[in-house]
Amino acid sequence: MAKEGADMTEETECMIDKNSAKDAGSVEAPGGGKEMRAVMLAGFGGLNKLRVTKKAMPEPQDGEVKIRVKACGLNFLDLMVRQGNIDNPPKPPLVPGFECCGIVESVGEKTKGFEIGDRVMAFVNYNAWAEVVCTPVDFVYKMPDEMTFPEAAAFSLNFVAAYMMLFEVANLREGMSVLVHSAGGGVGQAVAQLCATVPKVAVFGIASCFKHSAIKDSVTHLFDRNIDFMQEVKKISPDGVDIVLDCLSGENTGKCLSLLKPLGTYILYGASNTVTGETKSFFSFAKSWWQVEKVNPVKLYEENKVIAGFSLLNLLFKQGRCNLVKKVMDKLLCLYAQKKIRPVVDSLWALEEVKEAMQRIHDRGNIGKLILDVEKSPTPLMASDSTETSEAGEEEEEPEGDNDNKERMPFIH
Ligand SMILES: NC(=O)c1ccc[n+]([C@@H]2O[C@H](COP(=O)([O-])OP(=O)(O)OC[C@H]3O[C@@H](n4cnc5c(N)ncnc54)[C@H](OP(=O)(O)O)[C@@H]3O)[C@@H](O)[C@H]2O)c1
Repeated sequence: MAKEGADMTEETECMIDKNSAKDAGSVEAPGGGKEMRAVMLAGFGGLNKLRVTKKAMPEPQDGEVKIRVKACGLNFLDLMVRQGNIDNPPKPPLVPGFECCGIVESVGEKTKGFEIGDRVMAFVNYNAWAEVVCTPVDFVYKMPDEMTFPEAAAFSLNFVAAYMMLFEVANLREGMSVLVHSAGGGVGQAVAQLCATVPKVAVFGIASCFKHSAIKDSVTHLFDRNIDFMQEVKKISPDGVDIVLDCLSGENTGKCLSLLKPLGTYILYGASNTVTGETKSFFSFAKSWWQVEKVNPVKLYEENKVIAGFSLLNLLFKQGRCNLVKKVMDKLLCLYAQKKIRPVVDSLWALEEVKEAMQRIHDRGNIGKLILDVEKSPTPLMASDSTETSEAGEEEEEPEGDNDNKERMPFIH
């Protein structure tokens, strides 16, 4: 990976003036090197740990491309990274973000398959939320001509994860049924669309009530996240379902397993429920760990059930399966070309609005994906105090300046 770590970083210590935000890219650094804007996470914790800073611009190494970033995906996982609520997090300060898209600006020596000017989308092992990103070609994919940058930023992580869980792990086929939590979110909407590509697949979605009117057509049955989904599913399908996709850290594993039909597959792929307040809560972490139900393998064998786990980022960055992911991406791009799938974009935010964007996902407000649009100017501030609120309100934020007591109105796509 390109060298662009904290050692090369020269933080300006202050948020970049929002009016000069666009011009701040690619300025000459005092040492002669170029600088760029990037979102920096100064330490794990609340929203006040995020700021936009100037940082040394990376240059591509052998086998890498340098991307002039247009848009980045903001995922639930980024919120968990900010809190330090993940296994073995890297040491801050760090630039968050695992996916972006843009235009190839230059290529490293021995880099094959990409040329200057190519429109691309890419996975990055951190460092995506910046004006310029360098990443190995193994994680870079050409964008279809008709795909917009916000769509591309919403595409990779959600659709690849959804596809691999449904088709590589669970072997989704005609006539099957799938239960998915957080059905209105980025992954949830990708799951719903991919299920619709297979005949007669029934999708049982669970989501907050206010999203139901917006997403009701994307799933077959929709349940409020606050009701007992077990009972409701059984009323409709007494035999249960073939596939359960669970991003709630296994607190319902026992229930979900009992919902599986014979030869059914349960996949654990997230831990959204461990997020309660604005900062990591050791209580909720411990509670969720305690609630994870023990699974008896003998029972699995007796009942003909499969239990699986899935982590796309580990598959890519720790387990070296980028070739497999590339093949999956090719299949997804075919489905996109056939207009069978389309990323659902919730809203676009400037880099300077990253706190508000994160608050929206924390507040369960998003339907589809949040995008950081690198070329967007921040919208005017509204007098309000929403950035500092959080569900559990666990930590008082340090005051950071006038802007922190105001909220921006997002541009809803
Ligand atoms: N393993 C992998 O490879 C992989 C890849 C991508 C994502 N993921 C995981 O998949 C899940 C969804 O990711 P995403 O990026 O698509 O996010 P998302 O679904 O867009 O995330 C936001 C939604 O999650 C739900 N949610 C559940 N618990 C929550 C909580 N404690 N606080 C706030 N919202 C909560 C809310 O929907 P409702 O209120 O409607 O329930 C919220 O709108 C996450 O757990 C993420 O870590 C895993």
